[in-house]
Amino acid sequence: MRHDTERMRWERFAPARVNLLGEHTDYTGGMVLPMAIPFLTQATIERIDGPDSHIYTELFDKEYVIAKEQRPNPTGEWSDYPTGVFEEFRKLDIAVPPFALRLRGDVPFGAGLSSSASVEVATCMALLALTGSELSIKEIALLCQRAENLFVKSPCGIMDQAVVTAARAGHALMLNTRDLTFDLVPMNRGEMAKVRVVVVNSEVKHSVATGAYGDRRREAEAGQAAVVAKFGIRDLGEATIYQVEQIAGEIDPVILKRIRHIVNENARVREAADALEAGNVSRMGEIMLQGHASMRDDYEITCQEVDFLVDTAAQLPGCFGARMTGGGFGGCTVNLVVEDRVASFSSELAERYEREFGIRCAIYPCVAVDGAFELSLKEQA
Ligand code: GLA
Repeated sequence: MRHDTERMRWERFAPARVNLLGEHTDYTGGMVLPMAIPFLTQATIERIDGPDSHIYTELFDKEYVIAKEQRPNPTGEWSDYPTGVFEEFRKLDIAVPPFALRLRGDVPFGAGLSSSASVEVATCMALLALTGSELSIKEIALLCQRAENLFVKSPCGIMDQAVVTAARAGHALMLNTRDLTFDLVPMNRGEMAKVRVVVVNSEVKHSVATGAYGDRRREAEAGQAAVVAKFGIRDLGEATIYQVEQIAGEIDPVILKRIRHIVNENARVREAADALEAGNVSRMGEIMLQGHASMRDDYEITCQEVDFLVDTAAQLPGCFGARMTGGGFGGCTVNLVVEDRVASFSSELAERYEREFGIRCAIYPCVAVDGAFELSLKEQA
């Protein structure tokens, strides 16, 4: 193997993710339980003779130029994600020589499977390789989140960047979003060994950058401020359902519903991780269905298409549980289905969905794969 510093060209990869449980808990210090899934963004970076750097994506057949002498401004296009990451390198005073970055991949866009985090993290790993710098998993995730919050101006939490970076094959990641500590939770214990995680794309487009996600975030933060002031705790990650009941008469009923979802959801993540550890697929399925009902009734982020997909899936043979996954207002559902029923489950669900809404949904049976950090270690070996 040639030494890295002698190389002029590097390839780095980042997967997509699906969240098994813990929705909209990652911006108030809560718990999430995502896993990485086998879609990839590939970032190929090459050192070039400057002065400018070039980012090209095959996804849209477009090129973007970062001029050496000028600070880039957001354009509202795909290039904001890699450029935002580049900007964060600049802020850390990591000298980045002129480069050509080529991005390609197969992560579905706007489906709630973290295409943005995948692009950010792949870009970050490529820039680290190019500059010969090292950052920890936590630093990479936070850098990519800052890129999205500050440059793209999308108010996302930390879940996606963290799992896309830190995931391990065969495991879900129980992540505490307050301090980014995590446990790897095996996905193949007991009865879990016989089920597949089936992701169903409602094809109803979802975007974290548009208003509704930000509205929920503001509501949750308002509720959090009230709970923190009353009980002297750090954040909603520390709140109990008893405290939520106690504050009920003092806050707006809508805010109350939002924080009730979050506090119950944090508890569900811990129960779900226990169910996975114990290989108890029936319990895991039940918790997923409860999580969906909470997103539908308390957090109010589902829509009729995903509600239909979840309700229908839950009735089909071989399905233990289902819920919407990701930011909401469309996107994907995640389903636990016995392996030898996946084909019949998928065709039946797709047919009923098309009959109801005239939309053909894409269905992806998934296993848990490695995140970008692990993939980069393999790439360097
Ligand atoms: C999007 C955001 C995440 C998280 C989820 C909802 O995926 O990017 O930070 O808030 O929505 O759980």
